[in-house]
Order: sequence, then C-alpha cells, then structure tokens
Amino acid sequence: MAKAKRESVFVCTSCGAEQQKWLGRCPACRAWNSFEEATRLAGKKTTSTLAAAQKGVAMPITDISHAPTLRHVIGISELDRVLGGGLVPGSVTLVGGEPGIGKSTLLLTVASCLAKAGLRVLYVSAEESVSQIRLTAERLKALHAELHLLSETDFDSALLQIDTVSPQILIIDSIQTVYSNDVDSAPGSVSQVREITARIVQLAKQRGIATFVVGHVTKEGNIAGPRLLEHMVDTVLYFESTRSGPYRMLRVHKNRFGSTNEVGVFEMQSRGLKEVLNPSEFFLAERPEGKSGSAVTASIEGTRPILLEIQALCVATVFGTPRRTSVGVDNTRCALLAAVLEKHARLSLSGHDLFVNVAGGTSLIEPACDLPVAMAIASSLTNRPVKKGLICFGEVGLSGEMRGVHRTEDRLKEAVRLGFDKAILPKIGLKGLEAIPGIKVAGVDSILKAIELGLEECAPSEYLSR
Ligand code: TYD
Ligand code: MG
Repeated sequence: MAKAKRESVFVCTSCGAEQQKWLGRCPACRAWNSFEEATRLAGKKTTSTLAAAQKGVAMPITDISHAPTLRHVIGISELDRVLGGGLVPGSVTLVGGEPGIGKSTLLLTVASCLAKAGLRVLYVSAEESVSQIRLTAERLKALHAELHLLSETDFDSALLQIDTVSPQILIIDSIQTVYSNDVDSAPGSVSQVREITARIVQLAKQRGIATFVVGHVTKEGNIAGPRLLEHMVDTVLYFESTRSGPYRMLRVHKNRFGSTNEVGVFEMQSRGLKEVLNPSEFFLAERPEGKSGSAVTASIEGTRPILLEIQALCVATVFGTPRRTSVGVDNTRCALLAAVLEKHARLSLSGHDLFVNVAGGTSLIEPACDLPVAMAIASSLTNRPVKKGLICFGEVGLSGEMRGVHRTEDRLKEAVRLGFDKAILPKIGLKGLEAIPGIKVAGVDSILKAIELGLEECAPSEYLSR
C-alpha cells in the first residue's frame, strides 16, 4: 500500500487558522508571530470534527425528547457550585492553572470523591508515575478500588485502557504532555493539543464520560495552545492563587451548564485542599479597623454574596498629572469615580495621586462596587475613617446620583452574618425591602449624602489634638 503523503501546514497558535506558508501576522485573529509548522496526512483534516460524528436530521425543537440531565454530585460543595450543581455526564471540563498551584491535587480529590460515590474513575497521568500518585493519594486519604490509575503519555495506548476500564469519569493530566502518533509534531504543539482534545470531546460525548482535562497556562496566563481549545470544551475553570498564601480560587471562564461568575475558594493544607466555606471571613480577616481609606462592600460573585474590603490611598502628587492606579478594580472606573467625587462631593482630588486596591487579591466587576470605592477614596482624602460596622454598595452615576443594584436582601443578610450593623445603599433598594434584624439601613440618592452618612465626623488624630 502506498504510504500516505505528509504535507506541511502552518497553524496559528492563537486561533488555530491554517496557512500554506508562514506569516508574520495571522489574517484571522491578527496575532503577531503566532504561526507554528505542523504536518498532516495529505487530504486529511488534522481535526476529527464533532460534526462528522453527529450527522443527523433537523427536527422541530418541540419534538426533541429531553431526559432531565442527572448530574454527578462530587461532594465538594465549592466545586459543585462552580460547575453549576455537579458534573454533567458527557461534559468536558478544562482546568487551567500555573504549575504547582494544585490542579493534580484537586482532581485526585475529585476522583476519590466520585469513586467513593460508586462511580468508576480513570486518572490518566502523563506527568507522574502511578507510585507517585499513590503516595499523594495516601496523604489525601483518596484510596479507593474504583479509582483506576494509568501513567501514560501515548494517547492511543490510553484509549485502549479506557476501553478496558470503561470509566464514567476520566481525568487527563495534562493535555500538553500526552501525544498521538498520528500527528507528527511534538507533544504540547498546537496540532497535538487540538487533535487530542477533539478526540477526547468525541469520546466523552459518545460514551457519556464526564471528563476533566488539565491544561498548563502560558506566561500571559492563557491556557497554552490555541484559543480553539477553550471553544472545544464545555467548561473552562482557572485555578489561581490569591496574593495571600495558601488560598486558591477556582474561577469559571466558560460554562455551558451554569453561571460563569462563580468563584470557589480553597485552602492548600498539608493534607490536601480544603474548601473555604466562609470566604467573607477570609477576605476580611486582616482588615484594619478605624483606619481611613478602607470600606467594606457586599459583592455578588456568581450566586452568592461575598464581603470584600476596598482600600484607597490618596497622596499629594509630585507630577503635573495625578496618577490613578488600581488593582482589582477597573482603572477607568476609578478615574471616573474620582471625577464624580471632585464635581459632586466637593472633594479636591486633582492634586492627588490615587491608588485603589481590593484586599485579598480578588477583583470587582460589579457596578454595585462603585459606592465602596468612592467611599474609600473619600475616606483616605479626608482622613476620616468609615463608620464602624458599616457596609455600602450601589452604582454611582455621572451626575453623582445613586442607582439601584440587584439582590439587596442577600447582601444585607451576609453583612449581618459577619457582624455588620449599618448599611448605606441606593434609596430605590429600600422599595419592598423587609426589615432585616440586626442591621440598620440608610437609603441615599446621592454620593454626597452617602459620604456624609458613611464617614466618621473627623479623624481619630483630631480628637487627640483637642
Ligand atoms: P499539584 O497538585 O501537583 O500542582 P499542579 O498539578 O497544579 O502542578 O500541587 C503541588 C503543590 O501542592 C506542591 O507544591 C505541594 C502542595 N501540596 C500541599 O501543600 N499539600 C498536599 O496535600 C498536596 C498533595 C500538595
Ligand atoms: Mg500536576
């Protein structure tokens, strides 16, 4: 039989576009220097497309039978919530993160939880030997007869084992270290990653295997390999560390079966990852009380409220143009709030550099966090601390007006739980709000009023000088 001819193509590492010759800039996604050489059999597309596997006939949506999807509940509530209420059979979840962050530890814990729940699990590691994994599993108390281990870098051999074990849960650690002999390029290259992911997705959908795939991240923080990878899978989770020690955050980047705003918080201990069920306490743990420049808010992260501390520092500028620097809050939003404070709260910020930070290394995207950012700035500038036991939230408009936000009641209840007894919120939020025991609520319609109500009369140092 004549040997199939191999041809050379160039693939964009950013979007997966193919070209016959090398180009400096991808015409599809406009990324610079992103082309990498790959080989494929002549006339054969490198990717085995899902479409080919699922040929069918079109029919009215109402005629399509739907069985309610039963989810596998993992038993790690932080992860179950992040996934949208458990693991969907046949779904493919990509878990990305820096080396050493705890991806393998997390997935080994997941594997043992699911094995203990009676599901057959196959953990394919292309990075560690089975005895190494067993050692870790002993430490994590993750030994179970239904948890099968395989140390293999050749994907085709792994497929044979998948046939033998026929698992309900499959874990591939990691996508960049497994390879297939059908593709000529090196493990971790675009063609390898793309081909293997396509096969994993096909396998998962055909046999209903819930699959986790580990992906390494690049220096820029993206999952190595083309963006295409993120399009192919159902769910993309990023495992990140916060700036404070052993805490790890699991963020949802994409989820076909749930919300994308969810955050799960874990702590890395000597015996594995432990869930942090009370993240508000963790984010407020080191808060300086009675100091100016610090405000607490209740932000809705996904489906639950979390209390966060926002810090601001205003110092006289030494340059002609004052700097506005922020970490965890959008820089433009900060500049906008500074301008609103200048115009509508009569605070002179134009001669001050402004620094804003969200404590605990998280980030805020909700408009409801406008008021606490403004409050922290005003507090730092006037050197008046925010009143003790106070939280605030609300969107600030360009005319200095306060605008309503959703889920007022949930935010207030979380504040009460952590011992806060006063809240400032937009006036409209009071409509239909039932009294919540333990917290006094003030509805305001302008930023000026909020600041007057929220800050102490004067700085503690001024009391001393009298
Ligand atoms: P690992 O899961 O191997 O990271 P990844 O797969 O993301 O590269 O985690 C490695 C780190 O976690 C390592 O530095 C040691 C630490 N660790 C603990 O602190 N406690 C534990 O119980 C385990 C298993 C790991
Ligand atoms: Mg690992």
